[in-house]
Amino acid sequence: MVALTFDDGPHSRNTDDIVNILSKYNAHATFFMLGSNVVKYPDVVKRVYDAENEIGIHTWSHKELTKLSSDEIKNEVNNTASEIEKITGKIPILVRPPYGSINEKVRNAIDNPLILWNIDSLDWKSRNKEKIVPLVLNDVQDGDIVLLHDIHSTTVPAVEEILKYLVENDYQIITVSQMLNAKGYDLSKTRIFYSARQ
Ligand code: NI
Repeated sequence: MVALTFDDGPHSRNTDDIVNILSKYNAHATFFMLGSNVVKYPDVVKRVYDAENEIGIHTWSHKELTKLSSDEIKNEVNNTASEIEKITGKIPILVRPPYGSINEKVRNAIDNPLILWNIDSLDWKSRNKEKIVPLVLNDVQDGDIVLLHDIHSTTVPAVEEILKYLVENDYQIITVSQMLNAKGYDLSKTRIFYSARQ
């Protein structure tokens, strides 16, 4: 199993396109959303959720949490969670800190599992399918968490190729929570995950 994760959205068009591709391959992914975009595109949030994808918290404003106070960190997380809950009826559990930036203060301020990644597509940097696809697939293994961004249009065709390969090679493409649960991890505690490789 592999978990694809999409950060920084939702985006008015690209997120929808990715949701459609996921559905085509009977795959499900985790979207770590920014509160500031959630309030702009609530209908997209609803479609992501209705297609049985997972929604996680990527903070409200994408600030580096290590530079904020504990109260500011909690507000960034809790305000985003409550906007998502208003739309989906479900409180999101997983948190992805912007830039993967974590320290003791961040860990103490957040009660949720912190989800980092072990495969970085660098899609935000290359904006090029020919570079994104091999970065993801060259070293892919069971239990991997892949970082992608649904705000970039160049990521959309890359996702199609990645899914085609993974499905043909019998990987299950599931949400981060589903994968961690399947591997026997306890999601009720604060803990940092880079992957579910065992
Ligand atoms: Ni981000």
